[in-house]
Amino acid sequence: MNGSAVEPLVEAVHPLLGARITRLDLRGLLDPRLKQTLRENLAEYGVLYFPQQSIDPDDQSAFASLFGRVDFADTNGANPNERQSTPGVKYISNIREEGKPIGALPDGEMHFHSDGSHRKTPYRATTLYALEVPRSGGETRFASMTAAFEALPVDLRSELEGLSARHVFNYNKTLRENMRLEDAAAHAIHPLVKTHPDTGRKALYLSRLMTRDIVGRENEEGCELLAFLMDHCEQEEFIYEHSWRPGDLVIWDNRSVNHARNDFPPDQRRLLRRYTVSDVD
Ligand SMILES: [Fe+2]
Repeated sequence: MNGSAVEPLVEAVHPLLGARITRLDLRGLLDPRLKQTLRENLAEYGVLYFPQQSIDPDDQSAFASLFGRVDFADTNGANPNERQSTPGVKYISNIREEGKPIGALPDGEMHFHSDGSHRKTPYRATTLYALEVPRSGGETRFASMTAAFEALPVDLRSELEGLSARHVFNYNKTLRENMRLEDAAAHAIHPLVKTHPDTGRKALYLSRLMTRDIVGRENEEGCELLAFLMDHCEQEEFIYEHSWRPGDLVIWDNRSVNHARNDFPPDQRRLLRRYTVSDVD
């Protein structure tokens, strides 16, 4: 677009989720006609990946706003090399200056989760733009929670549809640890199965990092069911793994896709810029 007649090219990158979109420059003013198309693409694929972009914080904020309202509360605005940061920007980075990380969630592996599931209103979508990436590791793995739900036996699917789960956010934890509600942790209760408003498809809504227990089944049987479901939805067949290159912009739908981070060498720099989209317009 941007004045050219060439239409964006959308190519699936995995049988169940994820598409690469090329022939589209996300700098500057975006054609309003893109909005509907990209929203439909996101609902269909769950993850959209735009390689070789050269966007500043304003461009990324404008891109995120195509999908809803940019969430201004989720911010750290701390990259000293980007003075122009707009409200809502957050940096994910292991880079340290004077011993302190310049961004959030600096190091190592991160278990599967859905951004904001500890909130009453989670994030609809998350955008992440790669500025610096390690030579190896640090990939983001995306799991189709729609495909995971649809692969379950019918009886179990209907049983799960009546249940809810408790989600907890322990600040700056990237791996599942003992989740205690009496900690200063934010938590929320959500249905275990959610229907996507755009596609009508149902998806599992739980994750290894953030789901603490099933409401009303805080017993051994409930814990076993939760453990089974966590293992089920992390099977390779449901996962697209994204290897980052500088200039990659990725957006994913937190309502139908979980994500996790692979470990990476601590001595290699990793810097990504994030904006989230609120689920309230
Ligand atoms: Fe995340």
